[in-house]
Amino acid sequence: MRVLVTGSSGQIGTNLARHLLADGHDVFGVDKRQNPWTDEFPTLLQDLAGHYPAFHGGIGGVEYPSADLVVHLAAHAKVHQLVREPHRALENAIMTFNVLEYARQLDLPLVFSSTREVYGDVHRFDEYGESTADFAYTESPYSASKIASEALIYSYARCYGLRYLVFRFSNVYGRYDNDLARMERVIPLFIHQMSRGEPITVFGGDDKVLDFTYIDDCISGIGLGIERLAAGEVANETINLAYGQGNTLVRAAELIAGELGVDPRINRAPALLGEVTRYVADIRKARELLGWEPVTPLDRGIPRAVSWFREWRAEHPFDEKLPVAQDRADESPHAFKQPANA
Ligand SMILES: NC(=O)c1ccc[n+]([C@@H]2O[C@H](COP(=O)([O-])OP(=O)(O)OC[C@H]3O[C@@H](n4cnc5c(N)ncnc54)[C@H](O)[C@@H]3O)[C@@H](O)[C@H]2O)c1
Repeated sequence: MRVLVTGSSGQIGTNLARHLLADGHDVFGVDKRQNPWTDEFPTLLQDLAGHYPAFHGGIGGVEYPSADLVVHLAAHAKVHQLVREPHRALENAIMTFNVLEYARQLDLPLVFSSTREVYGDVHRFDEYGESTADFAYTESPYSASKIASEALIYSYARCYGLRYLVFRFSNVYGRYDNDLARMERVIPLFIHQMSRGEPITVFGGDDKVLDFTYIDDCISGIGLGIERLAAGEVANETINLAYGQGNTLVRAAELIAGELGVDPRINRAPALLGEVTRYVADIRKARELLGWEPVTPLDRGIPRAVSWFREWRAEHPFDEKLPVAQDRADESPHAFKQPANA
């Protein structure tokens, strides 16, 4: 297959593209920035959030190579960054619109990357089956951007016959997630900080429970989805893709510390505005429809993540000196102030 991957210079895009190449597929990437980890597949550098007129062969008047299927991963993917900069949420929706128009004109099936954030924070102790999502509980502009994208996709399926799969991911960690100067992600951030002997901060404290998904489990699920969608075996489904087990963020930090052989210094702070503070995915649908089974629990994934991080650092010692992106309101020059009663 020839697979067009948007957001191919990001964590999931890089892992997915390499996985598809290894399976014998052709990959064409589109991203607004170069891939920091690999040059194994061609990447068109393009801003996908422009207001472009319709163009048959690609987005924004650029003729793309022929494709059989599109995987749309490009997005501003940080919840709290979009609380501070909500115009990026609109850009996420515009990107999805552009990709949908492209897919519609060429009649291509689409795989989309949604998120557990669409569930909001209200069902904290319920089961998170796919039908639990309700737009009335939109927690943040990021969540709104994914709900809007999902809604556009469902409307294209009804009005234009689009074939799609929507995956809702949750805290994907592992390889190709260490570009901390661009984007703060909690697992590599903790590895970075603890390996320097620095304290870490757990926003949401001991109650923050997340469903951490090791990258290879996420990629194997997307890969199965691509195969089944292309073969016409599964279509027009929305599917949770996560490990299906809750772990506190504090436990994740302790596992990292154990791997690094350090005593963790953990500060606890209130959850940040817009964040989901408890999520454990119901993954029965992914099992049933895709025959997928995640195989990497947190205590097996963290050692791999730490080991990959250390290998990369050993080969790229300069990365250590780059400043970490500042994602949080309390540290931003344009700090977003939470209302006192919120
Ligand atoms: N990683 C996770 O834990 C997770 C969880 C839930 C959902 N998701 C979703 O999965 C997708 C991939 O996530 P990721 O972790 O790989 O994110 P990422 O930030 O590593 O990758 C996203 C890529 O999109 C690109 N991009 C952003 N704006 C663009 C634009 N205007 N034009 C072209 N490219 C643009 C970025 O440059 C980046 O390379 C995202 O849509 C994200 O919202 C990820």
